[in-house]
Amino acid sequence: MPGFEVFGEEEKKEIMDVLDTGVLFRYEFGEQRKGVFKVREFEKKFASYCGAKCGQAVTSGTAALKVAMAALGVGPGDEVITQGFTFVATWEAIFDAGAVPVFTEVDETLNMDPADLEKKITDRTKVIIPVHMLGAPARIEEIIAIGDKHNIPVLEDTAQAAGCTLNGKYLGTFGRCGTFSFDPVKTMTTGEGGMIITDDEKLWRRMSEYHDHGHDHVVNPGARGGEGRNFIGFNYRMMELQGAIGLAQLAKLDEMILSQKKHKTALKEAAAKIPGVTFRTILDEKGDSATFFGFFLPDGEKAGAVNEILRQNNCGAIAFGENTWHFYPKWEHLAAGSTLSRSGWPFKDQNGKRRVIYDPAVLPQSAAIMDRLLVFQVPINLSGERLAEMVGALEKAANELN
Ligand SMILES: Cc1ncc(COP(=O)(O)O)c(C=O)c1O
Repeated sequence: MPGFEVFGEEEKKEIMDVLDTGVLFRYEFGEQRKGVFKVREFEKKFASYCGAKCGQAVTSGTAALKVAMAALGVGPGDEVITQGFTFVATWEAIFDAGAVPVFTEVDETLNMDPADLEKKITDRTKVIIPVHMLGAPARIEEIIAIGDKHNIPVLEDTAQAAGCTLNGKYLGTFGRCGTFSFDPVKTMTTGEGGMIITDDEKLWRRMSEYHDHGHDHVVNPGARGGEGRNFIGFNYRMMELQGAIGLAQLAKLDEMILSQKKHKTALKEAAAKIPGVTFRTILDEKGDSATFFGFFLPDGEKAGAVNEILRQNNCGAIAFGENTWHFYPKWEHLAAGSTLSRSGWPFKDQNGKRRVIYDPAVLPQSAAIMDRLLVFQVPINLSGERLAEMVGALEKAANELN
């Protein structure tokens, strides 16, 4: 990652198809568009690549979460369960839907711990959002079984795991729907952009209409319909240029993942020499998108010592325990309930009383895991020189700690 590493003639050609028509809008413009519908084609091809019936393109991965939750009927009074290790977007979207996020522990998959999920379900739980963080699966089959038992739909936040499979099935197709991000740092990118996939055509229809100001899409499915309106919507429409880039990037996705896998294997072999090292639990190595490489040291002190050596050798790893965008105790604006709204909503009720409290100390299992974790982002293009530098840095850490 990221997909812009392999931008080339294919992306340029797709973009020129759009510019040649002058139509940047995904709907309408009749004959002027000469049959070019890049966003529609991208939706069809992305859904079919994943093995899903329907695809709904939107402006971002955050918008995808928002649109999916709107279609699932999430609103004020609801709780939505997600995990305490994710990008802030997951819970921003929950708040934006008017609901309250509830956070679970993660386990060594770095994703939702199903045992903790069971404990967090209440009669207000409307949706469960496991996140397939850092390119590899959550225990999605167990999570879906829990959701089914309580009759709660599962929405997979697959923003970081396009192209990743578990036992031969694409992530994003296990739950009622799956959301994706194509932002600038994702394995396949459209600059900004997102997608929702689902097998549920009724759910898709609601997403399609909601994301397009509530335009009725019934008469002409996949395009715009008549002038009826079923409900109030919003604008999360993807534009044709993004759809065009998406098509070119999707065609390269398998190759990009293969290349990441090769680089990850080389890094893993070098890291294996570090005393006490263990690896992130990857439930299905064959289906791994290898976007990131995560490994554990026996404790936080050793992880810090290893990272110091890596940093000194120009190869510092990401310590997600210290990262302020991805880990629950570091979200000071969440803990403080900082909001722009004058009333303090959603953190305070209409009487100014605090509705929700986020204590940074309530996820001790995740904190212990994050403390020991080091992560490398795996590039698609990795020069022999840079790979040698990274392998050399890991070997130095192995020698110094031996
Ligand atoms: C897990 C997760 N969910 C949602 C998003 C939001 O995607 P976007 O940046 O396209 O809004 C991201 C982006 O990094 C993400 O990592």
